[in-house]
Amino acid sequence: MSERFGVYIHIPYCLQRCTYCDFATYVHTEIKPPEYYVSLVKKEIFNKRNLFPQRELDTIYFGGGTPSLIPAHLIVELISELAKFGYTTGPQTEITIEINPATVDEKKLETYLKAGVNRFSVGAQSFSDRLLKMVHREHNAQQTVQTLELLRKYNLNFSFDVLFALPTQSLDELKYDVQVAVELGSKHISPYCLTVPEGHPLSKNRPLDDEQIEMFNVIHTELSKKDFLRYEISNYALKGYESKHNMLYWTDQEYWGLGLSAHSYTKKSSWGSRFWNVNSFDLYGKQMDAENTLQNIAAHNAQQIEHLDKHQALTDFCYTSLRLGAGLSVDKLGEKFGTTTLDLINKIAQPMLDKNLMSLVNNHYVLTNNGVVISNQIFEKFAFLKEDLATL
Ligand SMILES: C[S@@+](CC[C@H](N)C(=O)[O-])C[C@H]1O[C@@H](n2cnc3c(N)ncnc32)[C@H](O)[C@@H]1O
Ligand code: SF4
Repeated sequence: MSERFGVYIHIPYCLQRCTYCDFATYVHTEIKPPEYYVSLVKKEIFNKRNLFPQRELDTIYFGGGTPSLIPAHLIVELISELAKFGYTTGPQTEITIEINPATVDEKKLETYLKAGVNRFSVGAQSFSDRLLKMVHREHNAQQTVQTLELLRKYNLNFSFDVLFALPTQSLDELKYDVQVAVELGSKHISPYCLTVPEGHPLSKNRPLDDEQIEMFNVIHTELSKKDFLRYEISNYALKGYESKHNMLYWTDQEYWGLGLSAHSYTKKSSWGSRFWNVNSFDLYGKQMDAENTLQNIAAHNAQQIEHLDKHQALTDFCYTSLRLGAGLSVDKLGEKFGTTTLDLINKIAQPMLDKNLMSLVNNHYVLTNNGVVISNQIFEKFAFLKEDLATL
């Protein structure tokens, strides 16, 4: 398959700060207005326009935060700005926007559609008002359903985020959430297990480890019954509805992240480089004002760029590929890292094959259901230090 390329644009405005959320976002009334923020992102496009080859984009992803909270014309302006500098879109481009329930009306939706937005990721989280309230979401289940009715009226492609393992959440409540998500016509579902640090108010009364494993199993069983495939550890889709954008991250493709906290990956240096933007709104503004030459960008970004060594590239490759339903391609790994590295991977994989934590399918290492449950422990075995590869 040819190389693919996409752009992520971070929109850091939210109605409220959900207590469990660690993303770089602000309550919309507490920072400068979105018009100003979008002007900064436009500067960033201009400043960094030569870092990636101009081409038709495979994907654009507006993530957040709550991109649907800002005026829709600003989303359109960003798509146009990219096109102005050669990052064009066409009928094949997947353009996703994250929307929160009750932040989109018909007019907004039509503006998105005219600009080519063709995928909607809905932050439903749960269909239980009790649980939504508990995690301090502004919307209720009825508002989620209304948002979906709107999307269905236009026959649109949408995905749901479902949050689970919430304090006091029962298996039946989770089963209900998954069933409703499917019944409402979602073709893609991302179940996220709540992650909060110890001592966080939401860390109390959560399902125990065994119960959480049960929850993973309930999700898998319910979605499998409806022909959803787990194409990535936290993502299920009907065939053909996988997120093309997220697939870029998991298949070693280049991507350009614009806006606050956004991350990019380029293969220009020998093992590739990652670079990223700061989390602070004020500092991002200052950097974008100053970064008007490529030299400035390099100087500024000294703290915000990492040229990967082989061991880091290998760790990334294994981690992202093993998350995929299709698994880690033995051929691709050998092609990119060489046969001696492949021998090392085969040696590490063997005990996991023996324990039925992984299987070899079409020459790909794939996590089994048992493996998925303890995936973090498996990923650790494929995390490499420089010295691990020194003798190869
Ligand atoms: C950054 S949010 C953006 C989407 C949208 N603003 C929303 O909240 O619905 C993307 C997804 O990350 C998930 N998420 C955020 N914080 C999380 C946490 N602490 N643990 C698990 N999932 C989390 C939520 O399910 C959310 O839908
Ligand atoms: S609405 Fe979404 S992005 Fe905003 S704080 Fe809540 S979880 Fe985070």
